[in-house]
Amino acid sequence: MSESLVLVETRGRVGLLTLNRPKALNALNDALMDELGSALLAFEQDDGIGAIVITGSEKAFAAGADIGAMKDWSYMDVYRSDYITRNWETLKRVRKPVIAAVGGYALGGGCELAMMCDLLIAADSAKFGQPEIKLGVIPGAGGTQRLPRAVGKAKAMDLILTGRMMGAEEAERAGLVSRVVPAAKLLDEAIEVATVIASMSLASVMMAKESVNRAFEGSLNEGLLFERRVFHSLFGTEDQKEGMTAFVEKREARFKHR
Ligand code: HXC
Repeated sequence: MSESLVLVETRGRVGLLTLNRPKALNALNDALMDELGSALLAFEQDDGIGAIVITGSEKAFAAGADIGAMKDWSYMDVYRSDYITRNWETLKRVRKPVIAAVGGYALGGGCELAMMCDLLIAADSAKFGQPEIKLGVIPGAGGTQRLPRAVGKAKAMDLILTGRMMGAEEAERAGLVSRVVPAAKLLDEAIEVATVIASMSLASVMMAKESVNRAFEGSLNEGLLFERRVFHSLFGTEDQKEGMTAFVEKREARFKHR
């Protein structure tokens, strides 16, 4: 049997997915994206998992979609197969939080995959970029939409129009990544963050994720209304009672529904 393109492990309540085409710098082909989608959906169904981490190798989170595979595709090939939508958007169906732990290159589709995750933790070795312009195309898996939302129009235009790479420090300053850590500590840090998230009440974690995402999808008023409604609904859960009672009693919360 050929080796898995995505390695699947668990660390306590954290699901860990490692992109595994290291020789091709984790270039993302259809087979890899299919495996990634299946693994994500399996963790989504698994009550023992509260958060998911996606990582790559030391040299590359992913250096983009597989250029060799795409090179000869025609317009009709990509249109008829609905390239990208078919297996890339599985990640959007995941309601549990997903953390991208990025070391080395996160370019093109690799950067877009990281940006589809809920938060990005970068090694100091990380390099982000949308170099598609150099290949005669543009980002196709959300880069022109998610990058400006993360870093603002000016820097997004700079990166997308020139195809240059941005280091971890610049990415943190720009707001693309939440933390930068030494490369050797990347996975430990990401798993630690995921473990903290997975210790919270799953209902509030999922509703928090859904509400934050609304900030990027609709108008401010729609988002505020959505947030208010799900906030109200959490008062119908046992975990809200436990969480607030524990605070008042000056003890750790013991959430029932994790
Ligand atoms: C296919 C790739 C690849 C890619 C690297 N490789 N990136 N194969 N698709 N995106 C392969 C190389 O061909 C090479 O294979 C091996 O990985 C090692 O890469 P090198 O280039 O030898 O490494 P290095 O000199 O260290 O340069 C690293 C690099 C460079 C700067 C990251 O590989 C590079 O520029 N890669 C392409 C980056 C890019 O343009 N990404 C955007 C793709 S388009 P061999 O067999 O020779 O050892 C895209 C569109 C997204 O993502 C649309 C939505 C999905």
